[in-house]
Amino acid sequence: MSAPSGSHDEDLAPFRRLINDRLVDYVAPIDDCPSRLQDAMAYSLLAGGKRLRPVLVLLACEACGGNPVSALPAACALEMVHTYSLIHDDLPAMDDDDLRRGRPTNHVVYGEALAILAGDALLTLAFEVMARDIQPPALAAACCLDLASASGRCGMVGGQVVDIEAEHQPVRDLAELEGIHGRKTGRLLCSALTLGGRIAGASTDQMADLEIYGKCVGLAFQITDDLLDVSSTPEKMGKQVRKDATLGKLTYPALLGVEESERRADALVEEACRRARQFGERGRRLQSLAEFIRERDH
Ligand code: IPE
Ligand code: IPE
Ligand code: MG
Ligand code: MG
Ligand code: MG
Repeated sequence: MSAPSGSHDEDLAPFRRLINDRLVDYVAPIDDCPSRLQDAMAYSLLAGGKRLRPVLVLLACEACGGNPVSALPAACALEMVHTYSLIHDDLPAMDDDDLRRGRPTNHVVYGEALAILAGDALLTLAFEVMARDIQPPALAAACCLDLASASGRCGMVGGQVVDIEAEHQPVRDLAELEGIHGRKTGRLLCSALTLGGRIAGASTDQMADLEIYGKCVGLAFQITDDLLDVSSTPEKMGKQVRKDATLGKLTYPALLGVEESERRADALVEEACRRARQFGERGRRLQSLAEFIRERDH
């Protein structure tokens, strides 16, 4: 479950290495941080994972002609926010999961209180890193705004609330489902693209293409997550499967069935690839990543 496979893997491996090395630096032990908090943060952040969101930050920067290395602080910040969202998503009060990224979940190892606080500290560190390491300060502020609005009340956190509210509810339609998926997963994933574009100094047209690519890939990603919850295994996924039905979640396969869900994910990925092609050769890896979203089995 730790990395994309096949040709995509070769294509993206150097980017993932850059990200993993920088993440290690960002959570290196520091005197004033309690060591158990330190351990709990590093446990989840450095556990692996596909690193799709930070890779997308670097690829969007590359597609717009920027140096991907300059996008590393934003990429790592996004991965910190994503990891915090997973730690909290797994808590007993939320999805109550005991396996994540192939390991026992954070609260299983460190206890609920520390898991909540490790999530809090990762969220805060994300903004510390961007405010300090992105230059000039006006660009840092724009990136902080981007990530804050994608992860906050109208983005990921809001989406998680609606996801919980929709559990075991009888009235369900596609608009409600897209509202949940767009917010809980789509917004954060889309911010990967806009962060990378901003750092590269993208034009308005480029930003518009990146946003559409991000929206399509973000939604396709959560549809695929729902489909894999039905069809995959914990060994492949590194997390429990068949949880959504147990929790009464509103998901694509539950609402539309497997085949229609697959068709929708395919159409979204196709549209994303069309947008990636606007960037010519520099958008090749964006296209390859979109294709991976549909082909993935983990
Ligand atoms: C899992 O995200 C949570 C969802 C939004 C579906 P990923 O599947 O990207 O998880 P990691 O980062 O690879 O562990
Ligand atoms: C989680 O969605 C989305 C966020 C963490 C914001 P899921 O609950 O479907 O993710 P998994 O399946 O546990 O990874
Ligand atoms: Mg959840
Ligand atoms: Mg979950
Ligand atoms: Mg899921």
